[in-house]
Amino acid sequence: MVRKAIIPAAGYGTRNLPITKAIPKEMLPLGLKPAIHYIVEEAVQSGIEQVLIVTSKSKSSILDYFDHSMELEALLRSKNKEYMLKHLELPKIRVFFIRQPYAKGLGDAILLGKEFVGNEPFGVLLPDDFVISNQAPALKQLMDVFKETNRDVIGLKQVKQDQLKNYGVIKGSNKANHIEIENIVEKPKNDPPSNLAVIGRYIFTPEIFKCLEDVEEGVDGEIQLTDAIKGLLGTQSIYGKIISGDRYDIGILEEYVELMNIMSKK
Ligand code: G1P
Repeated sequence: MVRKAIIPAAGYGTRNLPITKAIPKEMLPLGLKPAIHYIVEEAVQSGIEQVLIVTSKSKSSILDYFDHSMELEALLRSKNKEYMLKHLELPKIRVFFIRQPYAKGLGDAILLGKEFVGNEPFGVLLPDDFVISNQAPALKQLMDVFKETNRDVIGLKQVKQDQLKNYGVIKGSNKANHIEIENIVEKPKNDPPSNLAVIGRYIFTPEIFKCLEDVEEGVDGEIQLTDAIKGLLGTQSIYGKIISGDRYDIGILEEYVELMNIMSKK
């Protein structure tokens, strides 16, 4: 059973500058809730019981958001505004935090979750990526494959040719209900191995940590999760699952605005 998940939220958010000078990308509003609220909700709806959010310097607002505000609750009560208390409700889950001291990349951020995870399979949700689906939440879709196969599972989506350079891209072969991954390349500059890009949902077993410890700096001089996955492919099979639903990347302004419109109506 997958009970734990890591949400890496330590990046600089350069694609969303200048607002991210002062507001972490994960705190950008979607309606009146910050983006990360919905990511944590997705974890809850997928059956996750504990999440670890990896933050960095100047991202204390994420911790503040997931804290209870006694003053605010007392104030609303004293002003007979109990009906507003529902706006302070948080996703019902235990939230842990750790800070990434150096901006060494996604792989390094995940490695910080090693002690939190212990000896269990775990999920990863990248908070840039949103999936709006009328089926199960994106992470749950992967968990269903994990339950059936007991293999690490990576969320995939078909992406336009000219966009593939922004993603991890896989080469794989079709199996009954999933794809067997044969190779994975981070942000291919040319000759992407397919049009199937990694979107930010994963289920891993703790073996990934050993590979993360072994990988060297890759694309952009960072410790890349993709390189650790590639290392793992040498020792075990890893499956991909094309996630059903519409994907939005909040690092792309047009997609953020579109998502904002959708979430504002919810
Ligand atoms: C990360 C991963 C990449 C993946 C992408 C999904 O890249 O390294 O493999 O395809 O997330 O959003 P980033 O967006 O952090 O550059």
